[in-house]
Amino acid sequence: MSEQIVILDFGSQYTQVIARRIRECKVFCSIQPFDTPARELAALRPKGLILSGGPASVYAPKAPLPDPGIFKLGAPLLGICYGVQLFGHFLGGKVEPGQKREYGKGALTVKDATCPLFQGLPESFQVWNSHGDKLTRQPRGFRPVAITENSEYAVIENRAKRFYGLQFHPEVVHTPRGKEILANFVHGICGCGSEWTMRHFIDQAVEEIRAQVGHEHVILGLSGGVDSSVAAMLLHKAIGEQLTCIFVNNGLLRAREAESVQEVFGRNFQIKLRYEDATELFLRRLRKVTDPEKKRKIIGKTFIEVFQAATRRVGHAKFLAQGTLYPDVIESVPIAGNPAALIKSHHNVGGLPKNMKFKLVEPLKGLFKDEVRRVGEELGLPKELVWRQPFPGPGLAVRILGEVTPARCEILRNADWIVVEEMKQSGWYYKIWQSFAVLLPVRSVGVMGDERTYDYTIALRMVDSQDGMTADWVKLPYELLEKISNRIINEVKGVNRVCLDISSKPPATIEWE
Ligand code: XMP
Repeated sequence: MSEQIVILDFGSQYTQVIARRIRECKVFCSIQPFDTPARELAALRPKGLILSGGPASVYAPKAPLPDPGIFKLGAPLLGICYGVQLFGHFLGGKVEPGQKREYGKGALTVKDATCPLFQGLPESFQVWNSHGDKLTRQPRGFRPVAITENSEYAVIENRAKRFYGLQFHPEVVHTPRGKEILANFVHGICGCGSEWTMRHFIDQAVEEIRAQVGHEHVILGLSGGVDSSVAAMLLHKAIGEQLTCIFVNNGLLRAREAESVQEVFGRNFQIKLRYEDATELFLRRLRKVTDPEKKRKIIGKTFIEVFQAATRRVGHAKFLAQGTLYPDVIESVPIAGNPAALIKSHHNVGGLPKNMKFKLVEPLKGLFKDEVRRVGEELGLPKELVWRQPFPGPGLAVRILGEVTPARCEILRNADWIVVEEMKQSGWYYKIWQSFAVLLPVRSVGVMGDERTYDYTIALRMVDSQDGMTADWVKLPYELLEKISNRIINEVKGVNRVCLDISSKPPATIEWE
């Protein structure tokens, strides 16, 4: 088992960011619920523990509190924000509501440069605060080693016990030297090496897959998206011919997508691939359906049917592989105001029914998205696939308003192709979250040469986002928008008008549906 740092999650919106920062230091790191019993934590043999921030107040009636045994594990501890208040609460300090909420940038001044957290850091640097309560008396055995304008206990330490507390957030970008503080904690204080690399992950995952699967066969639903593609590559590396991928064409894919998946995985990587063309079935069931929820339901249900029938034809598999990621499996802390809880319930469609009689193989379930991409690169997947923008499971159906017909799919596919091509050509494609075309089923009048036209409208949607939960429209250069618009109107039959969507999310959504 790799050396690991354990983060106890007290509900901070930044908990996963801390984990990613630690992993960027090439140290494995897992997130555990705040109330995990100390003996279970001890079994993980953590090289260090981090107590995350959180929205609660330590003296609130239902404040999330850890097992006090964590203070006796002998492992180094780093409390961040709420984590520091926990030191105060459990170890004889005092926590009080701050006179004013400290929120935003602050200047940290180091008082004791021998504190190992500050190795290689200047005497003063910028930090990011976000807290109401503050420590007003240090816990027993601790002493302050750095201050801010508002807090004389901005950083506290108990060097003998290797307990450290940061009142600010080292994990966010607004604390530019924060990653060095975390690196000092994991390497300098906890003594972790730098072994957690994607190469290391791949070697370990390959071994684990072989141990789990033995000589049995595995089925994987390949969507052409990043997660299932990387999972397929990893499984193929581990078990070769024992893997069969199923790729369902629901008739709602983008131009050349079905061909490119077959090209990359079937021909190039020689992965066993079953191509199920169910275009006709999906489009038949979608006929005359205009309600967005109904469309989604039909697509979800039909997908399951087609996929299940395909697995029966493959026959002998005992395992089903899925590209589940770490953020899907972290139990979110049920504290009011924890946005992680919201994110989890979002768009959980396209999943497979629980009653499928397979055992699950989920080789990516310890990874964050950026790590999955790095694994994909390491395994030799093409850049266009590894860095492609998100594409929703129900495909073009959520980008054709009203009824989905083969003719409309064709129009949108052609327009979408131009958008992607121009975005890539100009270098913008990989800089932003999503860029796509939407087909509006309204016709308006235009002129083409000497002829009057009466055709559809295409809306362009280009947004930037961190996680799809909020988004802003991207201010692309006019020249690029002009080129896209001209090409769509000239090259796509059935379209005579192009509009630009300049709404942010919220209140609009990214997809139009
Ligand atoms: P909205 O439209 O809700 O989308 O702002 C947020 C993000 O989720 C994607 N999306 C989906 N992804 N299945 C998916 O796998 C879906 O049904 C689905 N609907 C929306 C959307 O593309 C955006 O990135």
